[in-house]
Amino acid sequence: MAGQTDHALRGDYSQIRADYTVVQDYSRYSPEEQDLWKRLYARQSALVPQYACNEFIDSLNSLNFGAGIPHFDEINAKLQPATGWTLVAVPGLLPDDVFFTHLANRRFPVSVWLRSPEEVEYIVEPDIFHDFFGHVPLLFNKVFADYLEAYGKGGVKAKGLHALDYLARLYWYTVEFGLIRTRNGLRTYGAGTLSSAGELPYCVESGKPNRIRFDLLRVMQSNYKIDTFQETYFVIDSFIELFDATAPDFTPYYAELRTRRDLAANETITADIIVKV
Ligand code: PHE
Ligand code: FE
Repeated sequence: MAGQTDHALRGDYSQIRADYTVVQDYSRYSPEEQDLWKRLYARQSALVPQYACNEFIDSLNSLNFGAGIPHFDEINAKLQPATGWTLVAVPGLLPDDVFFTHLANRRFPVSVWLRSPEEVEYIVEPDIFHDFFGHVPLLFNKVFADYLEAYGKGGVKAKGLHALDYLARLYWYTVEFGLIRTRNGLRTYGAGTLSSAGELPYCVESGKPNRIRFDLLRVMQSNYKIDTFQETYFVIDSFIELFDATAPDFTPYYAELRTRRDLAANETITADIIVKV
């Protein structure tokens, strides 16, 4: 997950290299943490067949990293030949420009620390379980992997245009909380939902949130909440749709967005196409 935070960061930033990466010191994971990983994985992977998109399910099954906290090296040996992405270990959240530069170079930052047993239901910052379980499987999908690289390049550019708030909403409503229409009905491809026991069924089944057909400018116009289940989800038809919609130069889009008012996280407008569950 990428995003701003107003509290002190949780990770240990004392050993970082210039690009904010660290070594994944595997020996530091305790038996209790290995046990917690197995429990988190078992709970979450039981929900996936019903609520995740097929691309995620297939990749998760073939990676099969439920037996213990994964070694980044072992996953990289499979990921690099598959899509050219590399996992890099980081202490936690990164400055925007550092994060974008990693993505633009097909490096995915994964936090090294695991949440505590008290945080099984709710976590305020991305830990290794969120980053790994939520994000890594889809890095094996060619189109999604290309989208993420393009996003990183778009981030570097948006920073120069002072448009990061708009672009961050796109990440939030796609990479973290996106829904996709499939032959088996509505499913999620968002890491924030895929790694959450509560929000994974909720995002697909609950009658409460808005589900709105994906529209790029509409998404970038919309605020989001970081401390509750989402009040609105945006639905794509395919990863190709996402890639194609975001391929044009965003410079005129940002200019247009500055003329519009921001929408609240729970708001709907007449132009919205509502998607039924
Ligand atoms: N095409 C966008 C731009 O010119 C970059 C981008 C690609 C942003 C994919 C997000 C996702 O800024
Ligand atoms: Fe994330």
